[in-house]
Order: sequence, then structure tokens, then C-alpha cells
Amino acid sequence: MEDLLLEIKDLNIEFHDHDAPERVVSGLSMRLNRGEILGIVGESGSGKSMTAMAIAGLLRRHDMKISGEIYFEGTEILHAGRSELRRLQGDDIGIIFQEPMTSLNPVKKIGWQVEESLRIHRPQLSREQRYALAIECLKSVELDEPEVIYKKYPHELSGGMRQRVMTASAMICDPRLLIADEPTTALDVTIQLQIVKLLQKLNREKNTSILFISHDLSLVRKLCGRILVMHDGRVVEEGDSHEIFTHPRQAYTKELIGAIPRMEKLQQF
Ligand SMILES: Nc1ncnc2c1ncn2[C@@H]1O[C@H](COP(=O)(O)OP(=O)(O)O)[C@@H](O)[C@H]1O
Ligand SMILES: [Mg+2]
Repeated sequence: MEDLLLEIKDLNIEFHDHDAPERVVSGLSMRLNRGEILGIVGESGSGKSMTAMAIAGLLRRHDMKISGEIYFEGTEILHAGRSELRRLQGDDIGIIFQEPMTSLNPVKKIGWQVEESLRIHRPQLSREQRYALAIECLKSVELDEPEVIYKKYPHELSGGMRQRVMTASAMICDPRLLIADEPTTALDVTIQLQIVKLLQKLNREKNTSILFISHDLSLVRKLCGRILVMHDGRVVEEGDSHEIFTHPRQAYTKELIGAIPRMEKLQQF
């Protein structure tokens, strides 16, 4: 049975910071159910991140024109007030980005950063309760010795560990939606697969819906039941991931599949 969490209707995003307006997302509509993992795939510049930021309520700029509707559990995000957005961000909707080094604060210890959403959304918790939750969350993203990690600075961790820390920060308030925007792109292949497994585990254990954005179709296929293919700001193909992979309808999707190294493709069949 369908249990809708997120619905986008006819999303359009335009930049007005140059002479001619530039449309970067055109007529995008999609639905995401509770507990579902949906992939958005498309080459660099196809409008994936802009879509992710619109869902997270992060596109509020004067040089942009946005139209359409984005419903998250009945709340319309594009027209939500500031306080309503703040309530959603980090609590109901968690987001992780490609390069944790730019999203993590270099001068704050890991523990402080993982607890940030708790300070905002769970102000009633004591310092000890926050600490206990942070340690539990660092454990859940499979970081060994969470008590040691808690006291470290971002530069003292590897890229893969930093992405786990970002994931922990995004998950600490148990969001119902996790947006992962190219979360593994900066990492090597083995670590990429570990992060994908971790997202699978979080989805299974907490029923978190995940919007997984990547330019890497083979990675999206491993994780997602359903895929949207974006090209030039539009959804050009949508469907069951196995179906898209084995019977792509659009020339563009075939190209994306063609870009996957041959050995990897063979392993997947
Ligand atoms: N400030 C800006 N002004 C004009 N265009 C922009 C701006 N920022 C991003 N874009 C354009 O928006 C398009 C979509 O970008 P993005 O959503 O980041 O793509 P993706 O995440 O799929 O790589 C790109 O063509 C990019 O050049
Ligand atoms: Mg992007």
C-alpha cells in the first residue's frame, strides 16, 4: 500500500543572477513513499542538487525564481514560514552532502557537531542525555570507539569516517527523510559501498525514506528500488531500477549505462 511522504508537483527553478534567466529545473514531479529509497541519477549540472536543496527548504534567494509545490507530510515547503522550515530541517529532514569537509566545521569537535540538531530540536535534553545519544548514533554508523571519535576534530578523520559522522549528524533526530546528495562521490570504491550498505541498514532499521542522488548509475542501482533519471533539469525517465537498467527507454539513460565499466556491469547480472 502506498504511504506518501514527499510529493513534488511541477517544480521549476530559475536563476536570475545573469542577464538572461537560466532555468535549471523544469516541470519536475515526483513522489516518495515512507520507507522507500529513491534514486536520482544524471550527469553533473542536470539539476539534482538544486532539487535536493529545494526539498530541504534551502533555496530562499532573491536571485532565484521557484514555482511548483513540495509537500512533506502535508506541509508545503516552498511556502512554509521560517520557523516551520527550521522545525523540519535536521529534525524531520536530514541531509548529507558530497564533501563532509566543507559541511563539517573544522574548529569544532565531532561530538559537538553530531549534537547540533539535538541542541536545536531537543532543548529539553540534558548534556548527559545528548552525549549518550551522540555516542549511540556514532555507533549506529559503525564507527569504532565512538567515545574517541567524539573528541576528535574533522581533519583527524579519514574521508569515509567523516561521511559517517555527517550521516550520524543527519540521523540523530531520527528524520523521516534523509537526502543524500552524492554522499560517496569523494570516496574510493570500497568506502562507497560501505556507505551504501550503511544507508541500507538505516533504512531497514528505522524505516527512513532516502533520496539518494548520484551521477553513478551502478551505485544507485545497488541501493534504490526506483530511479528518476534527470537530464538538463528534466526527468527524462522514471521507473523500477532493474527495469531501467535492463530496458532503458531513453537514449540518455543508455548513455549513462554505457558509461559504467564493463566488468562492473557483468558482475551485476
Ligand atoms: N548561481 C547560479 N547561477 C546560475 N546557474 C547556476 C547557479 N548555481 C548553479 N547553477 C546551474 O544550475 C544547474 C544545476 O546545478 P546542480 O543542481 O548543482 O546540478 P547537479 O547537482 O545535477 O550536478 C547547473 O547547470 C549549474 O550550472
Ligand atoms: Mg550536485
